[in-house]
Amino acid sequence: MSKLFEPFKIGSMEIRNRFMRSATTSYWSDENGIVRPEIIRLYEGLSKGGVGLIVKGHTYVMDSGKAHVGMAGISGDHQVPKLRELTDVVHEHGGKIVTQLNHAGYKSIVDRAGPSEYQEGDWKGRALTVDEIHGIVDAFGEAAERTMDAEFDGVMIHGAHGYLVSQFLSRLANRRTDEYGGSLENRMRLLTEVYDEIRGRVGASFPVLIKMNCDDFSPNGFTVEDSIKVASAMAKRGMDLIEISGGGMGQVGELRRTRAKSDDPALSEANFAGHAEKIHEAINPTPMGLVNGIRTRRCMEALLEKGVTEMISMSRPFIREPDLVRNLEAGQLEATCISCDACSGRGVFSKMMLMCHQE
Ligand SMILES: Cc1cc2nc3c(=O)[nH]c(=O)nc-3n(C[C@H](O)[C@H](O)[C@H](O)COP(=O)(O)O)c2cc1C
Ligand code: SF4
Repeated sequence: MSKLFEPFKIGSMEIRNRFMRSATTSYWSDENGIVRPEIIRLYEGLSKGGVGLIVKGHTYVMDSGKAHVGMAGISGDHQVPKLRELTDVVHEHGGKIVTQLNHAGYKSIVDRAGPSEYQEGDWKGRALTVDEIHGIVDAFGEAAERTMDAEFDGVMIHGAHGYLVSQFLSRLANRRTDEYGGSLENRMRLLTEVYDEIRGRVGASFPVLIKMNCDDFSPNGFTVEDSIKVASAMAKRGMDLIEISGGGMGQVGELRRTRAKSDDPALSEANFAGHAEKIHEAINPTPMGLVNGIRTRRCMEALLEKGVTEMISMSRPFIREPDLVRNLEAGQLEATCISCDACSGRGVFSKMMLMCHQE
């Protein structure tokens, strides 16, 4: 049997195979951040389709950290009952589900506040005070407790894509001169405080995961050398899985296309496999998930066989084919998603329920 369909354990969580649905917002929650029935049906489809571990799309931990219209929230108890319905349908079909906790920082649509004053295109942010940072750390902890109330199997910190945690990690956005800025140790203080707060509230055996960048792909951003240090520090602290992604802040396309790739041609479609190989070595034995560009069964199997990652993570392929895992198991050779990004384009994002827009 292919390793892809072998079960795997992340901390105390048993997963039926090596497939992970990377966090993907359905951008269709109501104005109070409560998930709508269409979203619950989407998650039911993913679990029926065989995905082992589903990461729910990002959820805001406090109202001021909301990234876009239609984003789900976990900032108050009123959002919990519908989230519990969502986890119930996933469990009914044998899947496991964690939610992704996020604060958008200067990308918030409510209060554009991040580590320092910052401007990138349309995004202009003010600097958070130390008291506000402490309040955000608390909010992550409270949200993590709500994930237990909603019967998620674990929780993921969104540390990637230029949102608040990744803003603090990046020299590009973080120019603070206090204990939250400057050295890498200081820039990762927000992340370690968030992790410690969550761990203190959920206990030692509840899985805590992170999605983080291997690289910002920007001239003065977070580099793979930074990423190796942060990932290994978080692994030592007790993080149960590290999912590797990249980009989202000041990124330059050319850097992104070239510098994170593996030299191994069998891994060429996995855009961050080269960086992931280095990070994996540093975090061993903490398991890894790898996302971005993975489409063929051949590459998925090579990633597992070569020990680059333990979990194969995908987002867009599952938008088009919620039953992709079953299809691969039945012999399909690759995902049919063509990565055209029509499902996240301006005309549809936050305006209708997430779906594939290709025939
Ligand atoms: C519609 C859409 C929504 C997304 N929402 C999130 C999200 O909530 N959190 C997150 O970390 N990444 C999000 N992403 C990024 C994906 O998780 C993933 O990292 C990216 O699409 C690359 O993986 P892929 O090539 O398998 O699609 C989203 C991507 C898309 C297309
Ligand atoms: S719209 Fe394009 S990127 Fe999105 S799921 Fe469909 S084929 Fe994939």
